[in-house]
Amino acid sequence: MSKKTVLKNVPVEKNKCYTMTIDDLGSEGEGIGKIEGFAIFVEGALPQEEIEVLIVKVKKNFAYGKLKRILKPSSQRVSHLCDVASKCGGCQLQHLSYKGQLEYKTKKVEMALKKIAQLHSVEVLPALGMEDCWRYRNKVQFPVANHNGNLKIGFYGKRSHNVIDTKKCFLQNKISDKIVEIIREFLEQYHISVYDEKIHKGLVRHILIKIGFSIKQIMVCLVINGKELPHKEILIQHLQCIEGMTSIVLNINREKTNVILGNQNRVIWGKGYIVDNIGELEFEISPLSFFQVNPVQTKKLYQKALEFAQLNGDEIVLDLYCGIGTMSLFFAQKAKCVVGCEIVEEAVADAKRNAKRNHIQNVDFVQGAAEDVIPMLYEKDLKADVIILDPPRKGCDEKVLNTILKINPQKIVYVSCDPATMARDIKILVQQNYCVKLVQPVDMFPHSIHVETVVLMSRVEK
Ligand SMILES: C[S@@+](CC[C@H](N)C(=O)[O-])C[C@H]1O[C@@H](n2cnc3c(N)ncnc32)[C@H](O)[C@@H]1O
Repeated sequence: MSKKTVLKNVPVEKNKCYTMTIDDLGSEGEGIGKIEGFAIFVEGALPQEEIEVLIVKVKKNFAYGKLKRILKPSSQRVSHLCDVASKCGGCQLQHLSYKGQLEYKTKKVEMALKKIAQLHSVEVLPALGMEDCWRYRNKVQFPVANHNGNLKIGFYGKRSHNVIDTKKCFLQNKISDKIVEIIREFLEQYHISVYDEKIHKGLVRHILIKIGFSIKQIMVCLVINGKELPHKEILIQHLQCIEGMTSIVLNINREKTNVILGNQNRVIWGKGYIVDNIGELEFEISPLSFFQVNPVQTKKLYQKALEFAQLNGDEIVLDLYCGIGTMSLFFAQKAKCVVGCEIVEEAVADAKRNAKRNHIQNVDFVQGAAEDVIPMLYEKDLKADVIILDPPRKGCDEKVLNTILKINPQKIVYVSCDPATMARDIKILVQQNYCVKLVQPVDMFPHSIHVETVVLMSRVEK
């Protein structure tokens, strides 16, 4: 069939307006509806809404539309709190009630397990939400850009690398608005150049702020494409007046890359790390180390993971992708021993210090890629009763999954921030001798499309 003939059967035309009803929300939070059976994706529209849509792009089997007018709004529609919500890539669901967001996230996990893992009868528990779902983030990671001579600091726009200038972000702690303002004034006053990724020139690339919510310690890290920050003593003078300021760090990233942080840190003021609590445990966090961004929900997530594992104190636990040892230390209090594995050297150093700091001795941490470390430990006859998996968004390497199947633990606790890659990995484990027992989504990222999930898998005894 020629392209022309196919497009003849398409019931919509580019640049024309139509009315339609939205039936569902897609994986990116976009409204999806049909015109004469033909799927149309409309950003910003919600299920049950009747809308007027302008068709902006037509493909063979679907089209993209721009929301022109809402003729009948959904009962779940709410007003944006933030002025830039419709442009900024940070929040995709601010226009949906929080109840609606939680339902969307539960369904997202359910659909991934059905469509990708082919698990049609697994019950997904309702997503665990927050009481107060604003200003929950303990980490700001804002790119800095210059647009026609204007300094821009904020999240990237939707599907772009245009920085949306944000003076007040309702996902971040209030103090970070103040810190960003200080850095903005400093950059402007001293004419410090900012990085242009197209030509790989300019100095300041990103602002990273980490805040320990419970102990109120703050780290500010400026990522620079150079060795030195001119007039840094002035910036230090302003920042150190902020209550809780603990560390000011320069991170050197001179690579032509969109990886945010370079490998080298220079502490220019303070300790070089912050401390935060989750429950009873205290954690040192360095600039390069991963720490969950929502401390209130992290506590619930770890408690669920621990509850799912049902430890009796005799278990050997393997914590793959362990970061600074947060889950390892939670589990170590209820298990015989825990071995953590993590790729980032600085995070492993934090994990070891964190074990000492919390007087926990039945843990050990190995630095390296899980896909290299686990086969090596298996060759050395490593045994494990419970394996925790908490990989980055891309999920687990197949080597990791294959070695887990050989180790054959009784339980696997899979924690994931991406339902699709999680479902892909679960499918591999289920095809061998594991079954999914419990699935609990946890809303770590209110107002975004993202969801964290903890899954308990159990070995099927033959
Ligand atoms: C989602 S975080 C989870 C960390 C930790 N479990 C927590 O809750 O804070 C994923 C971690 O995996 C680490 N990582 C990424 N790729 C890895 C690999 N191939 N092998 C081991 N660790 C890896 C990252 O540095 C990061 O610390």
